[in-house]
Amino acid sequence: MNPSTTVRQEVKDFKPYTPGLTIEEIKQKYNLSNVIKLASNENPLGMSPIVKEEIQKNIPYCFRYPAVGNPELTSALASHHGISSCNIVTSNGSDELIDLLIRVKGTPFQNNIVVCDPSFSIYRMQARINSLEVRKVPLNEDFSFPFAKMLQEIDQQTSLVFLTNPDNPSGYAASRDSILEFADKLPSNCLLIIDEAYIDFSEQEEDFSPLAKFSQTQNIAILRTFSKMFGLAGLRLGYGIVPDWLSDYILRIKLPFSVNILAEQAGLASLKDREFYRSTRETVIEGKKYLASGLEELGCEVLPSQSNFILFRPPIDARKTFEQLLSRGIIIRPLESYNLPQHLRVSIGNANENNTFIKNLEQVFREHGSS
Ligand SMILES: Cc1ncc(COP(=O)(O)O)c(C=O)c1O
Repeated sequence: MNPSTTVRQEVKDFKPYTPGLTIEEIKQKYNLSNVIKLASNENPLGMSPIVKEEIQKNIPYCFRYPAVGNPELTSALASHHGISSCNIVTSNGSDELIDLLIRVKGTPFQNNIVVCDPSFSIYRMQARINSLEVRKVPLNEDFSFPFAKMLQEIDQQTSLVFLTNPDNPSGYAASRDSILEFADKLPSNCLLIIDEAYIDFSEQEEDFSPLAKFSQTQNIAILRTFSKMFGLAGLRLGYGIVPDWLSDYILRIKLPFSVNILAEQAGLASLKDREFYRSTRETVIEGKKYLASGLEELGCEVLPSQSNFILFRPPIDARKTFEQLLSRGIIIRPLESYNLPQHLRVSIGNANENNTFIKNLEQVFREHGSS
């Protein structure tokens, strides 16, 4: 018997995550020495120097296992947000928490999850591998959330509803009050997950995040990450702010050491480094203004963004635009996997990267029939 026939059908049918291309891949493919990556919404300033130093200091302790549940970081996050430690769960990136929530709340072959379409693919992927039905509700034409239509899809078997706020890939953000109102209308067994990976880049966090009202809610969990604002994407650190009835169950099934010692210490140092937070925010806000006006001047349709990236529609074919930029050493994100083949997403880079991107885009349009 061919041993591969024994592999689970869900695994055989599984379509893996499509990551952004790496700098090394593009250097090799096009024989380039300089490549700019504006594809994965990483931090335009790189890492905080203070956090880098803290990581170096902790390298000698890597032979030890981390403390299960990362109590030091959990308690620091709790005081950072002014909530109780029993509402915080740390994780190996917020990706891990998405998977854990699905496994804790979703009974295979029985429950369903409701997501927007398009939305971050990991919600659907982890639901499918855990044998949950995925119900996709198209976003409104202006990329706002289709709350009323989502409610029509939600039933007694819906265990989780996912919202990304600010949203990826659009940059749209719903108001805090509209989210709380939506949460109030959900059946009692249904948990609303609000993925706030990009909330630090929004104009006024309180206008969009229900975090300040968290203690008055029962059916909301908020996901945060150190990958974006804190520049630690490669170290893998995220956390959830979850109701206390839920955190214990998540911790029961979470692999005990999934957040490593360096990630925990880097997280602690990041929370203290307010200067890096401030300068990242300033760089993103300024860069976003520059890119939005540059793209508009070149004839692109630009969506307003509360995030550290911009969704735009170029005046020529999006795939051609993407490939032409790639051959010039600039990686941005094509969006076929989000079912938006006419659009592209560009992360906000530093001033030099943004400038190089706009200059090259201008050349591409000039050489390929526009502006
Ligand atoms: C909406 C959204 N959620 C979660 C993540 C994953 O974050 P992490 O690196 O913490 O796993 C991303 C990463 O791009 C994202 O765009």
